[in-house]
Amino acid sequence: MDYDYKLLMEKAKKASKKSYSPFSKFAVGAAVLAKGGKIYTGCNVENSSFGMTICAERCAIFKAVSEGVREILAVAIFSPNEDDCYPCGACRQVMYEFQGEEEVVVITNHEDNLNIRKLSDFLPYGFKIQNS
Ligand code: THU
Repeated sequence: MDYDYKLLMEKAKKASKKSYSPFSKFAVGAAVLAKGGKIYTGCNVENSSFGMTICAERCAIFKAVSEGVREILAVAIFSPNEDDCYPCGACRQVMYEFQGEEEVVVITNHEDNLNIRKLSDFLPYGFKIQNS
C-alpha cells in the first residue's frame, strides 16, 4: 500500500506528548490510518489502579471505531523511551479484529528511521470470530 508512513509516525510522535504516564514514565503515542484515509491518534493513559491503564494503540483504535471506522490500514507507534516500541499482545489482537482485506501495516521508529512490518509478523494465526 502506498501511504506517507512518515507523516503517520509524526502524528504518533506528537500524540506521545499527550501521554498520561506518571507511574511508568513510559510515554507512547500511536496514529491509526483508517480505510478512507482519516487518521486517529492516541496515547497511553495510566491510572492509580494500574490495571486500568490503556495503551496508546488501543486508545487510537477505539477512538476510530467509536467514530464508525471498521477497517484499519496502518498503525504507527512512537515512544521517546524506546526504539522500535512494539505493540503489546492485547493491542496486536485488537488490530487483528479491525484488519480488513489488506493486511495491517505496523510502523515503528528506529533512530529516526521507519521499520515497516505487517501485523502477521507480530501476530501469526490471530483469533477472529467470523462475521463479527
Ligand atoms: N504501552 C503502550 O501504550 N503501548 C505499547 O505498545 C506498550 C506499552 C504503555 C502502557 C503503559 O502505560 C506503559 O506503556 C508501560 O507499560
